[in-house]
Amino acid sequence: MQQNEFKRRRKQLMQQVGKGNIAIIASAQIRPRNRDVDYPFRQDSDFYYLTGFNEPDALAVFIPGRRQGQYILFCREYDAKKALWEGAHSGLEGATGDYAADDSFPIDDVDDILPGLLENKEKVFYPMGRDSDLDHRLFEWLNRIRGQSRTGIRAPAEMVSLEHVLHEMRLFKSAAEIKLMRRAAEVSAKAHVRAMQNCRPGLYEYQIEAEIVYQFMREGLRSAAYPAIVAAGENACILHYTNNMDKLRKGDLLLIDAGAECDHYAADITRTIPVSGKFSAVQKLLYQLVLDAQAAAIEQVKPGAPWNSAHDASVETLTRGLRDLGLLHGRLSKLIKEEKFKQFYMHRIGHWLGMDVHDVGDYQVDNQWRLLEPGMVLTIEPGLYIAADCGSVDAKWRGMGIRIEDDVLVTQDGCEILSKAAPKEIADIENLMRAG
Ligand code: GLY
Ligand code: MN
Ligand code: MN
Repeated sequence: MQQNEFKRRRKQLMQQVGKGNIAIIASAQIRPRNRDVDYPFRQDSDFYYLTGFNEPDALAVFIPGRRQGQYILFCREYDAKKALWEGAHSGLEGATGDYAADDSFPIDDVDDILPGLLENKEKVFYPMGRDSDLDHRLFEWLNRIRGQSRTGIRAPAEMVSLEHVLHEMRLFKSAAEIKLMRRAAEVSAKAHVRAMQNCRPGLYEYQIEAEIVYQFMREGLRSAAYPAIVAAGENACILHYTNNMDKLRKGDLLLIDAGAECDHYAADITRTIPVSGKFSAVQKLLYQLVLDAQAAAIEQVKPGAPWNSAHDASVETLTRGLRDLGLLHGRLSKLIKEEKFKQFYMHRIGHWLGMDVHDVGDYQVDNQWRLLEPGMVLTIEPGLYIAADCGSVDAKWRGMGIRIEDDVLVTQDGCEILSKAAPKEIADIENLMRAG
């Protein structure tokens, strides 16, 4: 992502924050995994969105209209010994030179400098309650200013949620963001193809996970957007299954939910395939129903459509299909009204997708479902999960979990499926697996 993109975002943020006010956001921190080993560092999405700065121990401050500089970055000072052991870091000069901060200061000086920047500001925009360390320090800085009130200095009177402003910006993806999301989706689709080609009875779920991670890594996408779900047979009925330790058995379905992250942007794709390479007649019926529900939902993704239209379309298709196949009994309208589908389809159609896999952005505005607009990206992921012990249906249906999930960009005149390179038609999957 180019620096210009981050500059544009900061400009937009400054306009929203307004003169006389201040915004503060902290980087993510390194978290210990065990002795002398840390979890891989992942920058806070909001912080990265505004700064492009990929280091811990940093704090960004935005002061619209400040003559000496509007964008101030606190970060670690350059330390040659640290660079030798841990690799390069920007230092104060890098913060202004490479990351276009107007001014930079050592993070260790933040307690001395920040109160001065807060003086006489009206509102403080910051991510309230997200980082207890920042919450705590902010109140200390404010108290320090309040202590000087007799000198005429005023402390800010209002706290405003920075997320409210920022997440609305993040909901609309720019051309540069779409490019990264397209790449994340393309690489993830390739990983799903690789999984299909390598799938066979007798392997273990983790061996399929290995194929997926291998494909991400060899394309330079070293992080998955979330831990892969590789769930064979009835494991697929556990929505957040990540144990991935069971054996793949002939005759079972395999649900794979996996997506890569490309420069902080996620893909989120699910495919469900037959372990042996061929769907049974019963599996075909249920699979095709989920696929039809997905097509009906995607049909609803266009500018001006309310967010829930896609969900409602999936509910109607799935409920009708379940009734036609004999898993539900009764009148369609009554089954939908009484939400009888929920025992088999217990989640919603999808979610916003972006820097976070379950991305930010309101789903409702003024108590109304939001209308889709170009630049929004969402997942469309209907599923059916028939528990192994589901007594209300014929035994032939039990122990199957099917989900089909794609990443969909709202365009000017409809939508584009970013993840379309991962096959999902029955014949396409079977052909690919036969060749594999
Ligand atoms: N992979 C998480 C989800 O599908 O929402
Ligand atoms: Mn998913
Ligand atoms: Mn999803």
